[in-house]
Amino acid sequence: LTGATTEPVAPLPPLAYQSLDDLERLAADRLDAETWSYLADVAEDGRTHARERSVLDAIVLRQRGLGDGGTVDTSTSLFGQSLRLPVLAAPTSGQAFVHPEAERGMVRGCAQAGTVAIVPMTGSTVIEDIGAQGVPWWLQLYLPSDQGVAAGVAAEAEEAGAGALVISVDVPVLARRRHVPAGYPAGWNERLIALRKGSPESLFILDNAPFTWKALAALRARTSLPLLVKGVLDPDDVRPAIDHGVDGVVLSTHGGRQLDCAPTAGEVLASVVEAVDGRCLVLADGGIRRGSHVLRLMVRGADAVLIGRPAMWGLAVDGEAGVRDSFRLLHRELITAMGLTGCWSIDQVHPDMEWRPPNKGGSWGG
Ligand SMILES: Cc1cc2nc3c(=O)[nH]c(=O)nc-3n(C[C@H](O)[C@H](O)[C@H](O)COP(=O)(O)O)c2cc1C
Repeated sequence: LTGATTEPVAPLPPLAYQSLDDLERLAADRLDAETWSYLADVAEDGRTHARERSVLDAIVLRQRGLGDGGTVDTSTSLFGQSLRLPVLAAPTSGQAFVHPEAERGMVRGCAQAGTVAIVPMTGSTVIEDIGAQGVPWWLQLYLPSDQGVAAGVAAEAEEAGAGALVISVDVPVLARRRHVPAGYPAGWNERLIALRKGSPESLFILDNAPFTWKALAALRARTSLPLLVKGVLDPDDVRPAIDHGVDGVVLSTHGGRQLDCAPTAGEVLASVVEAVDGRCLVLADGGIRRGSHVLRLMVRGADAVLIGRPAMWGLAVDGEAGVRDSFRLLHRELITAMGLTGCWSIDQVHPDMEWRPPNKGGSWGG
């Protein structure tokens, strides 16, 4: 019997859920109302967030079952780091309020699943404690106004073993959110600083430093770590970012939490990939809830993708093991989607895998 294996690594232990949507419901039951509201929150009317999912669902792939069969290989590598699947954990603030293992559980759970978590600078765990977990991780930060501080954090992250730095550029102002209009629950920063043993670094986000190319160039000059910018969606932002030496871009609407009339990663990927022209990696996130969503974004040109809320739901339900399981479920679904589209390895993913209705004029393709 030939065909795709359905299980990439050790068999999944029986899960209490069959989809990430089910996992979301379990997490909702587990969390207190304030934490849940923060996690689920969206900008204004939630239009961008809703469209992320519908854009992904609307990408149709060609079913190609007549291959020789074999074993689907989902592995890839980013900046020399091998990953068992092309899905990373997006940086998400508030992990300590979701589960006591917080960022430590997130990075370890990702490592168990064979991938990497991007730890937010505004998290509750100091950099050296993340490094002490002994697993791969990346650091996300907002560029502070003081370039010396940014360089210091970069050096500390490098010293503690971070694999890359991700600069988020999509919060020049914090959007009004539907549930928590101020963006963060009351007392948030005080609680974070206490958890961080008094370290004020978590206040970066309140720094309100406007992003400047100069600040990015200064950081580029002072770190040898791969540098990515997250939260770009436009070729006209991507081109100067590459000119300033970034190694990757992350197309993101911040999970539909910022501009509520933004295009989604799925929509802009083709134009961004054209602008990038192979000069840096292209990652994308937003609304990924199925393994086929991962594949659909990669067919449109992403090198890898990130999940934000789903990893948090896993953390909420079972800490490190819950994070691992959320990725494993997605991994299993990705294998299925690749097997059914006749795609046996990541290097075979190609734009031609997308199905487009034949354009015969008339009612078809119009
Ligand atoms: C609760 C929450 C907190 C987030 N915190 C950050 C953050 O601190 N820094 C950042 O760059 N993005 C942050 N994001 C955005 C995520 O990195 C990611 O872009 C988004 O969650 C992807 O969409 P998804 O949740 O549908 O997977 C956050 C998102 C959520 C839901």
